[in-house]
Amino acid sequence: MRNVVAVGVQWGDEGKGKIVDILSASADIIVRFQGGANAGHTIVAEGRKVILHLIPSGILHENTRCIIANGVVLDPEVLEQEIKELKNLGFLKDDKKLMVSALTHLIMPYHKKLDSLREGAAQKKIGTTGRGIGPAYEDRAARTGIRVIDLLDRKTFSEKVKENLKVKNFLIGRLYKDRPMKHREIVAAYAPYRTLLKKHVADVPSFLAKCIKEEKKILFEGAQGTYLDVDHGTYPYVTSSNTLSGNACCGSGVSPRVIEHVLGICKAYTTRVGEGPFPTELSGEIGEIMRERGGEYGATTGRPRRCGWFDVPLVKRAVMLNGIDSLALMKLDVLDDFETIPICVKYRIGNKVSSEVPVSLAAFTAAEPVYEEMPGWKMSTKGAREIHQLPPQAIAYVRRLEELVGARIAIISTGPERDSTIVLQNPFDL
Ligand code: IMP
Repeated sequence: MRNVVAVGVQWGDEGKGKIVDILSASADIIVRFQGGANAGHTIVAEGRKVILHLIPSGILHENTRCIIANGVVLDPEVLEQEIKELKNLGFLKDDKKLMVSALTHLIMPYHKKLDSLREGAAQKKIGTTGRGIGPAYEDRAARTGIRVIDLLDRKTFSEKVKENLKVKNFLIGRLYKDRPMKHREIVAAYAPYRTLLKKHVADVPSFLAKCIKEEKKILFEGAQGTYLDVDHGTYPYVTSSNTLSGNACCGSGVSPRVIEHVLGICKAYTTRVGEGPFPTELSGEIGEIMRERGGEYGATTGRPRRCGWFDVPLVKRAVMLNGIDSLALMKLDVLDDFETIPICVKYRIGNKVSSEVPVSLAAFTAAEPVYEEMPGWKMSTKGAREIHQLPPQAIAYVRRLEELVGARIAIISTGPERDSTIVLQNPFDL
């Protein structure tokens, strides 16, 4: 396969960073097509831990080109920091390695401010990451957004900031009673980003079309997860972009015909950060144990993640929504010490039992998990690289999940390190 999309099939934080990092060794180009610095990909490479929010995780490989495409909302302050950090660690030696689409929307200081003011004032909070993602996508849809191409032209940028501030300062000052933002300060703060972005800006759709013609291997890297999708997720407890595999095309400017494989990334259990329904959530001691063993704290905000057992209806629907061809099952080792491992196979909603994710948020909030129990393996799988190194109960768990969700598990992760991975089938080798 030449063109692969990798997406999360739960509520994000499935471990996409690690898988993208591994698959990048087989790819020529890595493309991020949605989300922004709300994502947080933790990668452990050559003993060094790197957390990336914006730049595709593939940047750690010598021979890959990385692209931030038009579907992303780009915070230039984060971009600058990440570039600096990567260079300090000896990565990103050549600026040409990182391309940014001229059409990518910028996160502006007023987006971040409005994100936190709105969350602070809301009765029903979403639990956003506070990175300005929602307000930036709102401006994109309202056609008042500022794109990379606008920043490159001093005058256009200044005018657009002025126009935006009329409305933003009205909201900031009058609605939220906060200090209005100054045009001069924003324009001055963004001037160095013009110099930075000039080194990376590109016509991404044309570049990708050329790569496709040359039969280069392209990996489209999703951020967040299926149930944070603005349409198909647990709305309104979602992010503001389409996180599904289909958005790899609009979010980067390629035809759906070029996508040959969709890889779903899936934890061996379930986690979620922020508010919203989560049927298998464990609020007691078991949830705490899972959180500690899995290091389940947000890479972006440091917030503790909510933890629970594997939810089959959820992942099965994600397989359908994304057209998943194969799955990577992450963090299997976190389950090493449990006596039994429940799998949610259905929901009880009122007096009905259903194996489908209900469309109504109220029904999903009321859904109680119906579990099937699998025996635990009570031994370490940490660092396993071959399937035969796994205990039979762990293999049985993996096989049962495959059967229940209807997709092949092609990769199993047994620890944060690159080589703590069982690769049964690399989608680029198909
Ligand atoms: P926003 O994307 O910052 O607007 O946040 C909206 C919702 O998506 C909140 O519940 C966040 O916690 C969640 N979210 C955003 N990005 C991620 C991510 O990368 N992983 C997990 N949850 C995320």
